[in-house]
Amino acid sequence: NIIEPASGYLASGLEGKGRMEEPENILAYLERYFDRTSDLSGKSVLITAGPTYEKIDPVRFIGNYSSGKMGYALAEECASRGANVTLVSGPVALSAKSSNINVVSVESAREMLDECQKVFPTSDISIMCAAVADYAPANPSDHKIKREKQDVPTITLVKNPDIAATLGKEKRPEQVLVGFALETDNEAVNASEKLTRKNLDMIVLNSLRDKGACFGTDTNKVSIIRSDKSRTDFALKDKSEVAGDIIDEILKILGKV
Ligand code: CTP
Repeated sequence: NIIEPASGYLASGLEGKGRMEEPENILAYLERYFDRTSDLSGKSVLITAGPTYEKIDPVRFIGNYSSGKMGYALAEECASRGANVTLVSGPVALSAKSSNINVVSVESAREMLDECQKVFPTSDISIMCAAVADYAPANPSDHKIKREKQDVPTITLVKNPDIAATLGKEKRPEQVLVGFALETDNEAVNASEKLTRKNLDMIVLNSLRDKGACFGTDTNKVSIIRSDKSRTDFALKDKSEVAGDIIDEILKILGKV
């Protein structure tokens, strides 16, 4: 695999220009390539991904449309750059490819928080990518709720824990905590407010108004807002490329702490 990108580069140089690329350019390319495969080596990364399911009874739940694709793309990107990744994942139809990713499967927000708290103290970077349900049924039934003859059942809800905010309170200065914000309106203001309220170092905003940036797609269009409220807008890209942009931004923060 070491040879592949270099020979690919040489081949494209030969094809495109009809001559070999300058040696110093090849060297610069290789330096960049190898930096990118090791710039997270020795780092522990915690990522949450996917939806949570909140049980109503043994056959029903409250959930959402999250596919988990962005969180899994982030996990693969971190692993390919040398990190040890713990991916706390809600129910999704995906599997992790890299052996550097330890997938911890959970269902509810409560379980997701418990698993995150086990690894958060030893995590250098934590990325909260899951679409966590804000509420859960107060009294999930042990047996299937039968259809009532006359009455429509009422499900009483209780608030779920806010995982990002809980970790934000426990965060040490050298740890980096990143959140996501999926908004439909007043996007930047809402995202900045979440960044402050949850004590995040960075928030990745996606707007549901952007085409190609909604649940289940392979692409995403994000803006990154940092704790000093500076903002960078990125183009619509494949989720794996978006993951690369996000990690590059996190590395800039890590360089400062
Ligand atoms: N988040 C979390 N735990 C929750 C709710 C959200 O960890 N119970 C995290 C998400 O993973 C995301 C960020 O917080 O990184 C923002 O999630 P979002 O659902 O947009 O925020 P909410 O606080 O739920 O705000 P609202 O639903 O009012 O937009």
